[in-house]
Amino acid sequence: MAFWSSTSVFTSKVPRKILFMFTLSLSVTYLFYSLMSCYNSFQFQENYVYQGRLVTEETTFVTLREKLYSTSSQVYLDEEFIDRTSTEQTIAVSSVRNSLGIDERTAGWARAQVATTSSMMSRAAAAAGEHAHPEFSTTDSDLRRVVNCTSDYGVKKLPQTIIIGVKKGGTRALLEALRVHPDVRAVGNEPHFFDRNYERGLDWYRELMPSTLEGQITMEKTPSYFVTNSAPKRIHSMARDIKLIIVVRNPVTRAISDYTQTLSKRPEIPTFEVLAFKNRTLGLIDASWSALRIGIYALHLESWMQYFPLSQMHFVSGERLIVDPAGEMAKVQDFLGLKRIVTDKHFYFNKTKGFPCLKKPEDSSTPRCLGKSKGRTHPKIDPDVIRRLHKFYKPFNMMFYQMTGQNFEWELEEHGNSPGSRD
Ligand code: A3P
Repeated sequence: MAFWSSTSVFTSKVPRKILFMFTLSLSVTYLFYSLMSCYNSFQFQENYVYQGRLVTEETTFVTLREKLYSTSSQVYLDEEFIDRTSTEQTIAVSSVRNSLGIDERTAGWARAQVATTSSMMSRAAAAAGEHAHPEFSTTDSDLRRVVNCTSDYGVKKLPQTIIIGVKKGGTRALLEALRVHPDVRAVGNEPHFFDRNYERGLDWYRELMPSTLEGQITMEKTPSYFVTNSAPKRIHSMARDIKLIIVVRNPVTRAISDYTQTLSKRPEIPTFEVLAFKNRTLGLIDASWSALRIGIYALHLESWMQYFPLSQMHFVSGERLIVDPAGEMAKVQDFLGLKRIVTDKHFYFNKTKGFPCLKKPEDSSTPRCLGKSKGRTHPKIDPDVIRRLHKFYKPFNMMFYQMTGQNFEWELEEHGNSPGSRD
């Protein structure tokens, strides 16, 4: 009773104003604590991402640059990891963490980066109608995936250099050797923008490019551009000062290499000898067969010369790229205005493969040779057909030497095998 009476006294005596103030202060306190807890969780998330990036930037990028500049170990980007399974990606990320000593949260962020980049590249490759076939051994890709953790840095730019050809010339070998250079960032897959995907627009094309830092060159390779009529004009309208690289190889060996590739996918196709002729008895060569047409370099070069001066083109000898990769790389680096970083110290001749391979990084036992689709054994072709093809190409080759001011000496190979060809 006393209690009730005192309460009623309290309520009656304390002015409503004080009660209101008391409730208000309670609400403010509650609001303050709510805000504090929100801020804390927000701050945690921000640190998580920020630190992840910071550590990754400082550790991964610097380490990579150091590694890339050192002669004994090279790491380079490879977008071809899109074929990998998620398990492999996890392994890759854990190898990133282990090799670079970054913490678990950073690895988590890296995992997210790999997943994002992976799905993006998958979409892009699917859009391009291309199924990327890894051309290096799978374990080697772990190393290359490391760079993907830094792929967010810098900006995406349209390429300043394109390897436009030629198919089966040695374009993959050149691109992979160039990617060892720390100032080169390249798309692993062939974007086929100027021949198959032009209507998708330049923004789509730019999006395919890896991010580059200042001073780095963005590049891609799509060997079919060289024989695409519309490509010179299209590339010129994108960048008139672009640098073009063309890897050329004895057109006869190139044709056999091209045929070997098709044969590996479609074993039922007729023999090379059958496809090469419209009428073999009359000695009528079928120059419309793409395997032969591609090798008429002078013809294709003409359309490029309508848009680009020779000074913007560099011709790599596919043969010399095999026997002296460092020598060819020196010329390519000079042409691109790059420091000569990729040298003979980066290559060794792999007897099993029969081709030069990139030296393996010191912390890996992985061989760095190109995959099985490069350096295939060619079928034996009737020597008479080979002779006739040499005769067919001779005038075009002469024209090509004249146009480029370079003698590739393919005529000397008429009675022997080309370097690296496993005939
Ligand atoms: P073959 O498979 O007929 O021997 P591309 O990459 O343009 O498709 O060219 C493939 C060719 O590159 C191969 O043709 C091979 O001869 C040549 N090549 C040059 N350097 C090579 C290397 N280091 N490893 C494997 N192949 C190489």
